[in-house]
Order: sequence, then C-alpha cells, then structure tokens
Amino acid sequence: MPPTASMPGLSRRFTGVASSVVRDLLALTQRPGVISFAGGLPAPELFDVEGAQAAFEEVFARAGRRALQYSTTEGDPRLRERIAELYLARGLPTVADQIVVTTGSQQGLSLLAQALVDPGDVVFVERPSYLAALQCFGLAGARLVSVPSAGDGIDIDALDALAAAHRPVALYTVPTFHNPTGRTLDRANRAALVDVAARHGFRVLEDDPYQQLRYSGEPMPPMPTLTDDPELVVCTGSLSKILAPGLRIGWVRTTPAIRAAVVVGKQAADLHTSTLDQAAAEAYLASGRLGPALDRACAEYRSRRDALLGGLPDALPAGSSWNRPDGGMFVWARLPDRLNATDYLPRALARDVAYVPGAPFFPTAPEPQTLRLSFTTYAPDQIREGTRRLAAAFAH
Ligand SMILES: Cc1ncc(COP(=O)(O)O)c(C=O)c1O
Repeated sequence: MPPTASMPGLSRRFTGVASSVVRDLLALTQRPGVISFAGGLPAPELFDVEGAQAAFEEVFARAGRRALQYSTTEGDPRLRERIAELYLARGLPTVADQIVVTTGSQQGLSLLAQALVDPGDVVFVERPSYLAALQCFGLAGARLVSVPSAGDGIDIDALDALAAAHRPVALYTVPTFHNPTGRTLDRANRAALVDVAARHGFRVLEDDPYQQLRYSGEPMPPMPTLTDDPELVVCTGSLSKILAPGLRIGWVRTTPAIRAAVVVGKQAADLHTSTLDQAAAEAYLASGRLGPALDRACAEYRSRRDALLGGLPDALPAGSSWNRPDGGMFVWARLPDRLNATDYLPRALARDVAYVPGAPFFPTAPEPQTLRLSFTTYAPDQIREGTRRLAAAFAH
C-alpha cells in the first residue's frame, strides 16, 4: 500500500472551536441524583403529549402519504399562516410570505449569520449573550463586539458610540427573558435601540423564543412595531419552549431584502424542515390546545421561579446579588467579586447540585463571579432541596 498523505486540516472557520472546561464539567451534571440548575430545558412533564399525539394522528388521517413527502424550502403554507397570526395577535401585521420555517430557531440564527455577515464584519451582541448564537456569528467570520448594559437594559449612549466606531452589520438581542440573564428590555430601551440602529444603518436581530413564558409584568411589543422601516428588524421565533423542542420547529420573520438569501441558505442546509413535524405543529396550533397548555406551564414555572428566588438568600454567599425575571427559564446571579463561580462548581457537584458558570457567555472579558440558574426542570420541593445543597457548597 502506498503511504497515506496527511490530510488537510479543518477550515479556518473552526480555528479555536474547542470543547470548554465548563462543558466537560457539565457532563457530570447528568449523574443520577444531581439536582441540576445548569440545563435550559422545558419540563417534560408539562409537554402536552396527548395533544401532540392527536395532532400527528390528524395529519396522517388528513394528509397520509403527502405528510411523508419532500416539501417546499419556505415551509408548510398553513403553518406559516399560523405563525403570521401569532405576530398579528401581538400587534405586528405579518403575512405568511414573510415567514420561513426553520429547523429550530437555531437554524434561523445560522441562516441569518450566513446571509448577513462577511468575514471581518462586526456584529454587536449583548454582554453576556446566548452561546450558540455567538457560535453562529463566529462561524460566519464575524468580529463580535459586546455592548455594555446600563441598569436593566442596553447602554444606549455606549451603543451609539460603538456604532460610530465599528459600523456593525447587525446587533443580536434576546430582548425578552434573555438567555442567560433572564432580563427583559423595557419599551423605552427597545425604542432607543431601534432608533440607534436606524440612524447608523444596521439590522436588529430579535431572537424571541421565550416571550410567551411570562409569569409577571406586561407583554412587550415585537421590535418591528417600533420602526417604520421594514428592513430594520429581523425576528426569529420557536415552538421549542412552548410546545416541544424535539419537534425542531422555528422560523425567521424575514424582510424583503433578505428573504431570498435565507431561503437559498436553507435549501443548501437541509432542503426543508420535516414535512410531518411541520404539519403536526400546524394541526396542534389549530387545535386550540396551546393556550391552555401554556397557562398550565406558566403557572407551574412561576412557582418554580419563586421557589428558586425564595431559596437563594440562604444559598449564595453574603454579598451576592441576582435578578427576579418576569418569565423564561433563568435567574442570573453574581457572587461577591473575589469569588469565581467556576471554582465552586466541583464543590457543588460533590454535593449533588449544579449550575452554569457565567464566564463562557461573555464573548470577551468574562465576569468570573457570575452564574446562571435554570428553574424550569424541577418541582418546587426539589428546587428548595437544591438551594440547600448550594448553601452547603458555598459555605466555605
Ligand atoms: C436565546 C435562544 N435562541 C435560540 C435558541 C434555539 O432554540 P430552538 O432551536 O430550539 O428554537 C435557544 C435555545 O435554548 C435560545 O435560548
């Protein structure tokens, strides 16, 4: 046999993409007996299994073989119609043609990164930010610049100055029940942000998978309602947190200028999202079961959030602080400045409790004293037990 020549390396795109120490530690949180505040999963016992099953049965009864066939890249027209109605119900006129169904909203982010970012382009992100979005923009070659916060929102003066200095192509935001911080930008902050984007000429990418999981406070308007420019804001949305993440149904609410690029990108990625799953999602939305299922989930998540918030004063060291999110899945906490949340994780694991250190969510200058706690996965009693274990882990 002739000697084998050495293979070319990975593309430059993947330089520096490695498994993090934290990810390796988090693998340990899967151990039985661990109460893990680390995940970001909806509670499986709240899935409307009967409703989902009925939706699949209806699809087979109605569409039969067609439900198993290839279908269009843009997505099931009836599902796109239903998604457009969700926006309309929130005061944002939307037609089905604007919606491209994606395989989870994660694919939407990937397609937007591909459509909008050339290598070296600047993308603004919040500080901290959703990790897998940072990956999408990073793989597209973006230079990520994080925008500082002021109070509970984005620092608008800093954003204005950074925009003048960097000329970004886009700002990526999770304005409602942010991952990882749980924070929600208020209306004034959203309007000011959109105004800066309009003046400097960059797009706002509004990633909004959590907004229906609201336990207190008033609903917020979708960001395209805050501008007359139909190009300014692109939205991504998802059924993952409100119906089931395993369905992998998300979408992009596109704009006229980017729609074709998103469709071509999707064609290249996977031709289309599962015909069967889209049809079942549409049948589920048509069944009227989503509202009651969401009400049940929100009532339960509210009591889980309150159980975590009730336990934190005794669980975290004196001098710690945390927020009180109005919805979503996460509480963001800050230990006193001298403490490092990653250092405490092995001690927490030794006591069968876990959380995610906040540092990896910062694209630059990580804040090691931060951590994210998810409250959706366990019943209130287990959450209280988890906070007692945390207290023991932080006790010295
Ligand atoms: C902020 C944010 N965006 C997007 C996603 C992707 O969700 P999916 O692809 O399931 O729609 C997630 C998942 O956790 C998320 O937290």
